[in-house]
Amino acid sequence: MDLRGAVVLITGASSGIGAASARAFARAGATVALVARDAGRLRALAGELGRSGGAAHAFPADLSAPEAVEAMAAEVRDSLGVPDVIVNNAGAGRWLFVDETTPRDFHAMTAVPYLAAGYVTTAFAADMVERGSGRIVVVNSPVSRAVWPGAFGYAAARWGLRGLVAALRLDLRGTGVGVTEVVPGKVSSEYFANNPGSEERVPGISAVVPTVTPDRVARALVAGVARDRRRVMLPPTLRAVAAQAWLAPRATDLLMSLTGARRP
Ligand SMILES: NC(=O)c1ccc[n+]([C@@H]2O[C@H](COP(=O)([O-])OP(=O)(O)OC[C@H]3O[C@@H](n4cnc5c(N)ncnc54)[C@H](OP(=O)(O)O)[C@@H]3O)[C@@H](O)[C@H]2O)c1
Repeated sequence: MDLRGAVVLITGASSGIGAASARAFARAGATVALVARDAGRLRALAGELGRSGGAAHAFPADLSAPEAVEAMAAEVRDSLGVPDVIVNNAGAGRWLFVDETTPRDFHAMTAVPYLAAGYVTTAFAADMVERGSGRIVVVNSPVSRAVWPGAFGYAAARWGLRGLVAALRLDLRGTGVGVTEVVPGKVSSEYFANNPGSEERVPGISAVVPTVTPDRVARALVAGVARDRRRVMLPPTLRAVAAQAWLAPRATDLLMSLTGARRP
């Protein structure tokens, strides 16, 4: 896809992977629609991108509420038209064992990213299919390939995203709208500060996968969209872990269990 002049909507654009992706898409000549709850950070980023010659607009919204997503989508459609690219990246969720998780926690953990990705995608899918072009990106986590203990709602939501990607691929086949799943390993973003108690539960075995920066993920994501790639997984060692999980699921469960978090 030629990104010059393309309209790219990015959720979770106020920090981390989303903000870095907004900068990378703007550098590639796209007009970016920035979505997250923190209006101040979105406007500051839109200003920064504007000053460096890019085109960016802030659309603050809480993506856990379908009505807020519909209102945001209407605003984006009115001011920029139907996006050429949607990057479903907004996500949160503390890592808790199932017996530490309340129903309310579980709702919050699955609302963003899983339900939010479904809300944002369905808000624009009919228009994209009618136009016959576009790309839907989903940012997922390694836990969607190999589950680790002590992250019940987080893991369930990311497996939900993996299912969303699989269903999207078949529904959109032959429509001209493509799907890209981006799976980074551990990223040096604000995620772990925003979701306290999670970093301590990263399984020991994940030390074989080096941490990547939000900028590196963003560059890979933008290149994946430009080249119409189905999947982007980084760093390369994560691909080996995913292959092992696919070939030997029980051995992978055992490894995660032995090197993962213990119930407090
Ligand atoms: N960090 C990692 O190690 C890692 C690894 C693999 C995958 N990922 C995934 O990558 C995605 C982005 O994470 P990140 O590392 O960039 O973390 P981050 O810096 O914490 O960014 C999360 C983004 O999601 C937005 N968000 C959260 N709840 C929202 C809501 N209810 N409505 C709208 N926006 C909401 C936040 O903005 P507001 O607070 O302004 O709403 C923020 O922009 C997540 O889905 C995460 O699971 C992260």
